[in-house]
Amino acid sequence: MSAPISSELAARADELRRALQQANYQYYVLDSPEISDAEYDRLFRELKELEEKHPSLRTADSPTQRVGAPPQSQLAKHTHLVPMLSLGNAFNDAELREWEARLVRLVGEDALRAGYVAELKIDGAAVSLTYERGVLVNGATRGNGTIGEVVLPNLRTIRDIPLRLRDGGGALPERIEIRGEVYLPFDRFEEINAARVAAEQPVFANPRNAAAGALRQLDPGITAERRLRFFGFAVAAPDGARLPFTTQSGLLDALQAWGIPVEPHRRRCDRLDEVIAFVGEVETSVRGALNFGIDGVVVKVDSLPLQDELGVVGGREPRWAIARKFAPDIATTRLLDIQVNVGRTGALNPFAVLEPVEIGGATVKLATLHNEDLIRTKDLRIGDLVQVKRAGEVIPQVIGPVPEQRTGSERPWHMPERCPVCHTPVEKDEDNVAVYCPNVACPGRQLEGLVHFASRGALDIRGLSYARIEQLIQAGLVRDVADLFSLRVEQLVSLDRFAEKSAENLVAAIEEAKGRPFSRLLNGLGIRHVGAGAAQLLARHFGTLEALAHATPDDILQVRGIGETTAHAVATYFANETTQQLLAKLRAAGVNEREPRAQTEGRSLAGCTIVITGTLPTLSRGAATALIERHGGHVVSSVSKSTSFVVAGADPGSKLDKARTLGIETIDEAELLRRVGENP
Ligand code: IVH
Repeated sequence: MSAPISSELAARADELRRALQQANYQYYVLDSPEISDAEYDRLFRELKELEEKHPSLRTADSPTQRVGAPPQSQLAKHTHLVPMLSLGNAFNDAELREWEARLVRLVGEDALRAGYVAELKIDGAAVSLTYERGVLVNGATRGNGTIGEVVLPNLRTIRDIPLRLRDGGGALPERIEIRGEVYLPFDRFEEINAARVAAEQPVFANPRNAAAGALRQLDPGITAERRLRFFGFAVAAPDGARLPFTTQSGLLDALQAWGIPVEPHRRRCDRLDEVIAFVGEVETSVRGALNFGIDGVVVKVDSLPLQDELGVVGGREPRWAIARKFAPDIATTRLLDIQVNVGRTGALNPFAVLEPVEIGGATVKLATLHNEDLIRTKDLRIGDLVQVKRAGEVIPQVIGPVPEQRTGSERPWHMPERCPVCHTPVEKDEDNVAVYCPNVACPGRQLEGLVHFASRGALDIRGLSYARIEQLIQAGLVRDVADLFSLRVEQLVSLDRFAEKSAENLVAAIEEAKGRPFSRLLNGLGIRHVGAGAAQLLARHFGTLEALAHATPDDILQVRGIGETTAHAVATYFANETTQQLLAKLRAAGVNEREPRAQTEGRSLAGCTIVITGTLPTLSRGAATALIERHGGHVVSSVSKSTSFVVAGADPGSKLDKARTLGIETIDEAELLRRVGENP
């Protein structure tokens, strides 16, 4: 029973919600906050506590209700009210003038008098937000333009998307879709990539990929962590809806009045010459100062009736708008060499060694080449002059060679047939693109593997730096990650640069790392396709290392958010002989193999030690283990006096006999499901 709610409490909750909504509006839309972060946090906490005590006070549009939706198993489809269009491009001023000439041919000199609006072309992911009577009720990606994917729980985590629109003097239509771009600011992008480097995870090539990926996460918690942002620039309304504006500039003002952030560098231009001047200003002085990526300026005919008259070409591109693209940041330099490094999963990654060149304010010496196919497709040869581009301002990429400049001395390149570190013959992976060193004991892989194991996102072993790991490998003290746990202070002090104190500290840090949650251990093992995110999903689902190690690919596929490639990679990893030896060593070292339970799942099997034998009618061995672990039980492989009960299926074998001899209770799958409250 919750306490009765006084009208004062309801009024206070309402007041807090309004104050927080106002603060968000001032911060995100007007860019002029009027209360401090500390004050915001205080109001937020008060509202949260109030709502926790009295859940009926909670409203869907409350600022506290942004995160917390559970992960989904897949994204539902959404048919856009009106298709989301793409844009034609103009790569120079002449092309822009041709576009205007076309407009004049179609609608006469009127087009010129109507004027234009020029806006920045935000480089992010397009979304459509559906508001009904001012409340955010749905949100979808662009998809193919007609049908997108529902990503509402993720969009709700974006602080500058209002959960409820401001009224704007009763001018809100009953139902409206607001379109715009979700983007990741550069500073956030860099923070995220730095964390990924530390955790030995692949970095994002550019903010757009990071934003689009975050948007399509099945777990809104992950989206929330990325801290995406949003700008609105278009609307779609049902036929006959009355909209309180007749121009694009009026539309942008209305969006802003409704509480939607609108990019401030926009200009209403009477003539195309002004547009051209604006493009120049943006390219020379605005672009470099922005904290987010843009890839051009969008020029739109300002009058909405005229836009209607001009219509859409081929159902895809409006005639009334065009994207004036900027020249990309490209430079030409020489490809001095192609080298290969061995990653922790054994993947051989070719990279380009370049004659240093400046691109967009940074000196570039190395560029990624991804894989051998790409090098062959582009026909890159060592000694070539190549064009290099900085994609999304970060990882440089080789666009291709300049073949006209060849002298004949250029040499084609081939992936080595043996691992450059351990000389084991390499293998191709399933899709025949990536090349791997299959030797799990390859020192190249081991080094990278240990570095990853000790990194922040994995076991976070303080003091175990790259150089220290190299030293331990060279001294023959560690080969695999499990060897770390048998390091002793006496062994370390005999090494260079180790004093008694630093040796003790390292051993203590390793000891402490044993207790990290199973998900961190799992991430640390460096299984292909398993980064921190997948490791968490798997650890939460299976609960223990034992359960995961016995899971079939089908069991693993049951985990929301895990796809076939990952499921296959995980099952293959655990089936491997070397893995099993490694796990036995880790177990003997006393490493924690359990994931602490964050949520309040059933504890009906708490303290029970359970044996499964035979084939159960519906649950696989892995699924049954996971179920038991989720409810607090512990699965072991052999029956003893301390076994709480045995779950038996068809063809049970000797374990059932033993249970009978010891007088231990035996139950079937249906009874197990009943005990955990999942009625069969
Ligand atoms: S207008 C006509 N305005 O660019 C309707 N689009 O290449 C098209 N974009 O999918 C949208 N900034 O996601 C418009 N200020 C802006 C934009 C913008 C970025 C994106 C948009 C669209 C893509 C088309």
